[in-house]
Amino acid sequence: MGGKLNVSENCLDRHLGTARENKAALIFEGEPGDVRTITYKQLHFHVCRLAHIFENMGVGAGDRVAIYMPMIPEAVVAMLACARVGAVHTVVFGGFSPEALKDRINDCKAKLVITADGGWRRGKVIELKANVDKAIAGAPGVQTVIVVKRCGNPVNMVEGRDVWWKEAWAGAPNTHAAKAFDSEHPLFILYTSGSTGKPKGVLHTSAGYLLGAKLSAHYVFDLKENDRYFCSADIGWVTGHSYVVYGLLANGATVFLYEGAPNHPEPDRFWEMIDRHGLTILYTAPTAIRSFMRWGDNYVLRHRLDSLRLLGTVGEPINPEAWMWYQKMIGKKRCPIVDTWWQTETGSIMITPLPGVIPTKPGSGTLPFFGVVPKIVDSDGNEAPRNSGGKLVLTRPYPSMLRTLWGDDARYKKQYYSEFPAHPDYYFTGDGARQDKDGYFWIVGRIDDVLNISGHRIGTAEIESALVSHPKVAEAAAVGRPDELKGQALVVFVTLKAGHETSDALKEELRNHVGREIGSLAKPDTIRFAAGLPKTRSGKIMRRLLKELATSGEIKGDTTTLEDFSIITALKADEE
Ligand code: WTA
Repeated sequence: MGGKLNVSENCLDRHLGTARENKAALIFEGEPGDVRTITYKQLHFHVCRLAHIFENMGVGAGDRVAIYMPMIPEAVVAMLACARVGAVHTVVFGGFSPEALKDRINDCKAKLVITADGGWRRGKVIELKANVDKAIAGAPGVQTVIVVKRCGNPVNMVEGRDVWWKEAWAGAPNTHAAKAFDSEHPLFILYTSGSTGKPKGVLHTSAGYLLGAKLSAHYVFDLKENDRYFCSADIGWVTGHSYVVYGLLANGATVFLYEGAPNHPEPDRFWEMIDRHGLTILYTAPTAIRSFMRWGDNYVLRHRLDSLRLLGTVGEPINPEAWMWYQKMIGKKRCPIVDTWWQTETGSIMITPLPGVIPTKPGSGTLPFFGVVPKIVDSDGNEAPRNSGGKLVLTRPYPSMLRTLWGDDARYKKQYYSEFPAHPDYYFTGDGARQDKDGYFWIVGRIDDVLNISGHRIGTAEIESALVSHPKVAEAAAVGRPDELKGQALVVFVTLKAGHETSDALKEELRNHVGREIGSLAKPDTIRFAAGLPKTRSGKIMRRLLKELATSGEIKGDTTTLEDFSIITALKADEE
């Protein structure tokens, strides 16, 4: 505390007047194939201008700004301009629905929204501005919307509220003296799923977050001056915050940004771009790797991939088969793989190999990063013996960890620091893991009520509350079942209110309803109608049994606390 800095200055100005000044900060490729290169000097210019625009609009230190954009350079400019004036950004992934956007805007009381007319995805336009209009209908606190023209699709501009980025832009000065803010000044809020129906606003502050992101990017990606780094995560997720924007730009690296889908126009888009741009580092998710495997080796073999020197994965446990494929087919057995474990809450990578230094084992994130002290503990918080599973905790504070949940300190304490009463200083990750005889960490996955579907975190409670908001649904329970491609697939059990009939059409209606409430990433893979849900005598839904049923079709676990066994018999009989 007490130190001061400006995060955007640390990502931009510090490189000016050095050999990096005219180095590419961003190389952008849109899905249609348009390419733009933006140097550090140019990026600085853009950010300075936007910072003035913000200030002219009365957006300054502590104000919240929602960013709902495609993966285009303006999204990075918007984040850095917020940081420059001390405003707190909340980036909402473009795949979230207007309803989800509205909730996030209202929760943090954003007064400015930055969006685009649309973004390209598999040759189609995702209509972001239209979604913003729907969201704002229920978010009266929004005063201004800045709109980037990306796709040229028609949009409705509301007089006095909506301005085109380009028009706002004209005439603003090109330089901006950045003010220094306290090291603990809030930098961003990022909403993520937890165990209740309401997403949590994870709050990160300035100096500690930037330090974690910068230091880890430097060591884990072993950054060299002439690297061209490609992270396929969207800036709507924490990976995009730390390892597209802050960690990389603070290191003066060249970041490759791609707007669209990995299989457009063909499933070899990544490999084609890697060759054409000479990309050297690829950081992606296991679920993407499994898709590449499924699309077939031929798409990979058409390309040389000889510019690559390092590969990374993040977001979910990687199965050894996918790891081996990644190493052989993409890395040509030449590139080290860094399997990096971390969370929205930790802000930066916590468990990871250092390339070329720590021997890897396929499927293990290996060892803690500098200063990170994780432990595997039993339910009392005592360290578990090697090779026996337990709960993963972080036993010491770390600079890049979240500071609180926005507007809800009590939930923050309860959620993260109450699992082990004997160890109130242990941060509980929500993950299950084990340590092998060499001390290597193996992450099993979430053991709380959070699912990891294609590397995206989704709370079972969020899905359930979306389902029960449908007029025909009485009760719902969401569980995960292992899925070869997505890691976990989403299975929901639904009981209907009296007088409603089950049908395939209703299943489709419910899927779409969840899509509208949350976003299509949360649409259930399987919907099963049930006459009743298994509950304990105190009325709690026994998701454990439903998970077993969804996974194996059988229930072998303990059913002694079940209130009515006939429900299980009926559920089994109803199997698809
Ligand atoms: C999971 C993403 C295994 C884990 C950065 C964690 C992983 C959750 C790995 C956080 C990994 C992330 N191996 N599991 N390398 N990386 N996870 O907040 O369950 O979207 O708790 O952050 O993803 O997801 P989040």
